Amino acid sequence: MTKPLEGIKIIDFTHVQAGPACTQLLAWFGADVIKVERPGSGDVTRNQLRDIPDADALYFTMLNSNKKSLTLDTKKPEGKEILEKLVRESDVLVENFGPGALDRMGFSWERLNELNPKMIVASVKGFSDGHHYDDLKVYENVAQCAGGAASTTGFWDGPPTISAAALGDSNTGMHLAIGILTALLGRNKTGKGQKVAVSMQDSVLNLCRVKLRDQQRLERVGYLEEYPQYPHGEFSDVVPRGGNAGGGGQPGWVLKCKGWETDPNAYIYFTIQGHAWEPICKALGKPEWIDDPAYKTAEARQPHIFEIFGTIEAWLADKTKFEAVDILRKFDIPCAPVLTMKELANDPSLRASGTIVEVPHKKRGSYLTVGSPIKFSDMKPEVTASPLLGEHTDEVLASLGYSRQDIFNLREIKAV
Ligand code: COA
Repeated sequence: MTKPLEGIKIIDFTHVQAGPACTQLLAWFGADVIKVERPGSGDVTRNQLRDIPDADALYFTMLNSNKKSLTLDTKKPEGKEILEKLVRESDVLVENFGPGALDRMGFSWERLNELNPKMIVASVKGFSDGHHYDDLKVYENVAQCAGGAASTTGFWDGPPTISAAALGDSNTGMHLAIGILTALLGRNKTGKGQKVAVSMQDSVLNLCRVKLRDQQRLERVGYLEEYPQYPHGEFSDVVPRGGNAGGGGQPGWVLKCKGWETDPNAYIYFTIQGHAWEPICKALGKPEWIDDPAYKTAEARQPHIFEIFGTIEAWLADKTKFEAVDILRKFDIPCAPVLTMKELANDPSLRASGTIVEVPHKKRGSYLTVGSPIKFSDMKPEVTASPLLGEHTDEVLASLGYSRQDIFNLREIKAV
């Protein structure tokens, strides 16, 4: 089966997580992704948090599947020459270096555009071009703080909190992938490449747009009725942290199930969807609540929502999280068990769908990774192992016309 991005050649000048997550996605869908790495060391994540001595760390293998690896010192004249040749025949260059690094290397947007006017140059930076912080280097948690996620995550009596989900890194990579695909479609019409830039701050803020919604509501009416602070607590002039409250019109909370005293994940998320109130009362064995004016409407319930959650927890006390969900699903109640990484890794449904995949690797044996979360009717993205450092250097250089002797000489001077 041919994949939609087959024939698209990508110079993957990315490292750590944000950039590699983007190019990995494009590689799954068929693009020829050549990862350019510094000779001798490569992407820093190859060595970070290793669990097997001398084998690439999972941090690297889980973000660089389906790619080729070319070692190249792009600060040496010989390395620059090779990169220029690659640029001339590639469709996309993706990078997420610190601010100005590509320019310092001699590969500004203007230069790249001159070398190949059809090429798309895609960049991740911490902050957007021209932003008053655009000189800053940025990692995941910095972006979560700068993009509004940290100030609105956690509990009101605790500090700003970082999400475990990679809102700054992988999320920005996904935004960049959308930008690249859009620019490729644009090129089909204009014949021209363009620069595509995504900042981590903007990508986090894009996912926090409901909090900007809340800021405006708060300024207009002075309170936010779906937050735990309403109606008994106080609001300041900024969106508060709402703990585990639902972000839309449906109140919800993380509730204890059987075993919570010893199992930190014996919980479910329970949502009180307005029109599901009757089935909820039936499921809980509280039919008298259905027409009780103190419970009948969402507005009536809100002042004592935690008393209602307490009643649900009492009902949950003799049920595991899985038993509880099995009962509640029959009543069409939106809920889910709080799943651990161990449970997800072994989930048969995720294995069957290709969301969790086991990949054979030359040095590691095999490792688990997250496969494509995007499913297609005509294509099943296959995940192959991440490359060893420089595994495809000879192959790529030969395709650019370098002889075996040339490659030997380039190795001698450590240009590749
Ligand atoms: N050959 C020669 N030099 C190379 C090279 C290669 N193949 N690949 C990288 N380099 C050089 C760069 O040119 C740069 O040199 P310079 O600073 O002397 O100009 C140097 O390596 C360091 O690059 P940099 O990207 O600044 O690395 P860092 O480790 O200092 O910073 C980040 C890491 C992630 C903080 C930074 O890259 C960054 O802010 N990136 C943008 C935002 C981002 O993506 N962050 C999240 C990543 S998950």
